[in-house]
Amino acid sequence: MSAALSLHVAIIMDGNGRWAQRRGMPRSAGHVHGAKAVNGIVEAAAQTGIRTLTLYAFSADNWGRPSLEVDALMRLLQRYLTIETRQCVEQSIRINVIGRRDRLRPSLVRAIEQSERLTAACSRMHLRIAIDYSSQHSILEAARRVPRHGGLSALSIEEFESLLAQVDHSVADTGAVDLLIRTGGEQRLSDFLLWDCAYAELYFTDRLWPDFGEAELKAALADYSRRQRRFGKVLAAAETG
Ligand code: FPP
Repeated sequence: MSAALSLHVAIIMDGNGRWAQRRGMPRSAGHVHGAKAVNGIVEAAAQTGIRTLTLYAFSADNWGRPSLEVDALMRLLQRYLTIETRQCVEQSIRINVIGRRDRLRPSLVRAIEQSERLTAACSRMHLRIAIDYSSQHSILEAARRVPRHGGLSALSIEEFESLLAQVDHSVADTGAVDLLIRTGGEQRLSDFLLWDCAYAELYFTDRLWPDFGEAELKAALADYSRRQRRFGKVLAAAETG
């Protein structure tokens, strides 16, 4: 689908818990099936020609969940990075984990660093996984790093974005989000990529994340291709009016 070429798509993967509970399973089983859905979507996104895919895997607020669930998620994320990095190298998918690292267990930080190092030269698609991520925290931390000399009034958007990238561990020049998808029926942003989504098109679906596959991704992209993006301006055809 050519419309997907060079897009930045971000996904809030919601609904794992409900998916499991409806089947009489523990919530952590929903996350295991959610991780399988991640495999499918990463492959479909790369085949579709998406340039950057950012997945919300663990928010800063998710630390407030029961410790058993947090532990299961941390193990799942580490396992994903350890196992899938080789696949990503083969498919030339660059991995970058965004968010705080100072509260993650050392073995997960090592897995992150290894995945990022081994895939650094990959160029087909950029896969970003948000772990212990909070946009509000990133923006506040970046603001704290604005150099005292030079002055806030001289700060450009590009300079602030490069401070944000330092805080987030992002690769510079990732670019703004074009399409934000949220599964699971809720219609909110949950502190995800607030700066990057300034002009993102939003797509909400009731589909629970473990049931979100290639067909659902294509439906979201088809919907996006029908949107008129004006970035606050008027379309050329309407300029005379
Ligand atoms: C939200 O659903 C989902 C999460 C907090 C975790 C997302 C994690 C994965 C999809 C799996 C691991 C990720 C990777 C990249 C391997 P929820 O638990 O809040 O669902 P609910 O709203 O139904 O309770």
